Amino acid sequence: MERTFSILKPDATRRNLTGAINAMIEAAELRIVAQKRVLMTRAQAETFYAVHKERPFFPELVATMTAGPVVVQVLEGNDAVRKYRDVLGATDPAKAAANTVRKKYALSISENSAHGSDSPETAAIEIQQFFSGNEIVG
Ligand code: CMP
Repeated sequence: MERTFSILKPDATRRNLTGAINAMIEAAELRIVAQKRVLMTRAQAETFYAVHKERPFFPELVATMTAGPVVVQVLEGNDAVRKYRDVLGATDPAKAAANTVRKKYALSISENSAHGSDSPETAAIEIQQFFSGNEIVG
């Protein structure tokens, strides 16, 4: 069993896609073991994406992530990190495979509907930023 961290981004919540994306998550045999809807502050977004802070798209990324509510989640399953990245598809929706979240729903590379951790180590750090242990029920 492995855990990964997910964010359903403002472009997804705005278009009422939480349930549709959750259905794709559950169909892939990932279990949503924690979930809450929050409005990320600028500071939270800057901390979360600190690894990208020197990239030219950083200001747009922070603006996009704070533009409306997000749904933060912890997903659990076998090989959860890789499996969820497969569910999401490529970061750039133009390169995403058929039947992935980003192919179906993303509007652009920054409004790409959802985030998934890139490794189990990153997942542990990202989960800690938004959830305390007793909020995660597997
Ligand atoms: P995410 O998985 O949330 O991780 C970093 C985000 O930066 C990524 O998804 C994209 O939404 C966003 N982003 C915006 N522009 C770019 C870009 N040119 N290359 C990579 N990521 C980008």
